Amino acid sequence: MATKIGIIGDGNVGGALARGLQRAGHEVRAVGKEPGAIREAASWAEVVLLAVPFGAIDDVVKAAADAVAGKTVVDVTNALDASMNLAVGFTTSGAEELQKKLPKARVVKAFNTVFAQHMDSGRLGDQPLTAFVAADDPAAKQTVLELARGIGFDAVDAGPLKSARQLEPLAFFNIQLGYVLGMGTQIGFKLLQG
Ligand SMILES: NC(=O)c1ccc[n+]([C@@H]2O[C@H](COP(=O)([O-])OP(=O)(O)OC[C@H]3O[C@@H](n4cnc5c(N)ncnc54)[C@H](OP(=O)(O)O)[C@@H]3O)[C@@H](O)[C@H]2O)c1
Repeated sequence: MATKIGIIGDGNVGGALARGLQRAGHEVRAVGKEPGAIREAASWAEVVLLAVPFGAIDDVVKAAADAVAGKTVVDVTNALDASMNLAVGFTTSGAEELQKKLPKARVVKAFNTVFAQHMDSGRLGDQPLTAFVAADDPAAKQTVLELARGIGFDAVDAGPLKSARQLEPLAFFNIQLGYVLGMGTQIGFKLLQG
């Protein structure tokens, strides 16, 4: 079923997810940092994707908190500080902190462990990559699992939103492999199931 999807952040991630979701038949509006445009896109959308730098979350919350009440909000951000280190962990996660800031929204953590280069296809060559989807709200989680499958990912239920405490360091590890250890961005995670 076609879903109206508002993407806040039209950079590498927002652009790639917009392409993938449009190809899957959804109606997509992606916007940059202008507060009026953020509010408008969030009001129009049924599902809102957050694809901005971690440090920009409070700006988005300020612009769109009312507009996302009752809606599924997909947190694609990586909780990195200015030195590119993990900003939170162990006892909370960026996604759980976002849920506290948007108590009326249904926050889902997804796509953050994938490089933007593969977000429009969900694939690396012929291989589907895994999109781990973590959320407390079962319906919101189901919606995002289906959106991810529509793009082409192998979508996996990663449990409650608390699992973002594992997914955010996994994304950090992806960045380490890709950029620090020099493997580049033509890599990705795939969960094997026997
Ligand atoms: N790149 C990856 O491979 C990747 C993979 C997984 C997760 N992520 C995460 O996804 C998020 C976006 O990454 P990206 O690579 O797409 O970054 P990007 O290309 O720099 O795009 C960031 C977007 O956020 C907007 N933005 C910046 N400041 C803002 C603010 N204060 N309020 C609202 N919007 C603002 C930017 O708008 P302007 O263009 O107008 O400045 C731009 O549209 C980050 O949290 C990143 O950690 C990235």
